[in-house]
Amino acid sequence: MVKIKTLIKDGMVVDPANNLRKTTNILINGNTVEKIHPKINPREADVVINAEDKLVVPGLIDLHVHLRDPGQTHKEDLATGTMAAAHGGFTSVACMPNTTPVLDTPERVKTLVQRLKKEAHVNVFPVAAVTKGLEGEVVTDFEGLKAAGAVAFSDDGKVVQRASIMHEALKRAEALSLPICQHAEDASLSCGTVINEGEVAEKLGVKGDPDISESVIIARDIVLAARTGGHVHVGHISTERGVTLVRRAKQMGIKVTAEVTPHHLLLTDEYVLKAGPNAKMRPPLRTQQDVEAIRQALADGIIDCIVTDHAPHAAEEKNVDLADAANGIVGLETALGLVLTHLVGEKVLSLEDAIAAMTYKPASILGLDKGMLAVGKDADITIIDLNKKWTVDPEAFFSKSRNTPFSGWQLTGKPVLTMVGGKVVWSDESINIEVVNSDKVS
Ligand code: NCD
Ligand code: ZN
Repeated sequence: MVKIKTLIKDGMVVDPANNLRKTTNILINGNTVEKIHPKINPREADVVINAEDKLVVPGLIDLHVHLRDPGQTHKEDLATGTMAAAHGGFTSVACMPNTTPVLDTPERVKTLVQRLKKEAHVNVFPVAAVTKGLEGEVVTDFEGLKAAGAVAFSDDGKVVQRASIMHEALKRAEALSLPICQHAEDASLSCGTVINEGEVAEKLGVKGDPDISESVIIARDIVLAARTGGHVHVGHISTERGVTLVRRAKQMGIKVTAEVTPHHLLLTDEYVLKAGPNAKMRPPLRTQQDVEAIRQALADGIIDCIVTDHAPHAAEEKNVDLADAANGIVGLETALGLVLTHLVGEKVLSLEDAIAAMTYKPASILGLDKGMLAVGKDADITIIDLNKKWTVDPEAFFSKSRNTPFSGWQLTGKPVLTMVGGKVVWSDESINIEVVNSDKVS
């Protein structure tokens, strides 16, 4: 196969993993980075992408995405979910196993990996179930699942409720050096709840989820991680109590990492009054005090990374009473704009720290050799226009679903080109891609 050479010219390259921030050029040969240098002759390339006045970063990585395929393809499928990822600037995602059937056997992971080769537009790394059928009773075949391609284990959507099962799972995951991503929610406390416990829940007449439903599981898992040496990764952390525990555990050298979503960083339960079911997810939107604590924890590096928890649901699953509505919101196509506008823009995070939380930090949690721009690495690259003003329009999503609380939000900063393994999988009209060697590029 002919290897195409692509030059990304004159971009402001920011690569937090390598402490790089400068205007330079990147030459890509086939699917890997060949050269990063301020002076590269455009004649070396077959294709030239003009990135002047744009930010060039390692392709964004989201380690918490629900692709819904197989079995729930009215919400999303491998092609639409990964196009939504590309549209949002993500070059790699990890997909959660709460599909139909559940991703809980090596055969199912193998089948998925085969299908992804043909159907996915970005890199997809499967997360396999911790327990058979997500039922919390029998731990799956971790060795077989890893051999088939799983990069982590999770019963996400559900919690691993029993300590004995989580203990066993952490021991077995430790032997394979893979993390367990926990959806931290004690069912005995959260059962029957709709949104966060507090005034808004009272006003709406629904049962509220107390913040301790999250922190009691985090506390338990930290104890189990300390005992087993296993790596527990706390999914979509949402509470002040939760981050206090993670902070302490990290100080003690316990192998714990954590992720947070843009919506938990930006919204409180008050927003349910405005957005209704589109502001309903698990864990629920919390209080201003929680928002401030998780923002601080992210800024301090206590929370390692930003994830979307992209959870598509069809209109008929959301346009019902709040209590009956499905949990979760889409996120792939709004995450970067929200982070740039509200976290970087409001100086919660530096640009470098925001990019780090969406690139090499999630990569390192999953043990992926990705998330940085260096010679010899995969050419997964996102080009961003930091000044581009845009309005969130769910109708413009590539996702099959529209369930977002951010409709109509005005944001500044948007991806304009997404490259996966040297190939442009998505770009908008504002970026100039010039084919200079048309013999080689068909
Ligand atoms: C997710 C879903 O819809 O699969 N829903 C959600 O509210 N976050 C499951 C999950 O991530 O817990
Ligand atoms: Zn979850």
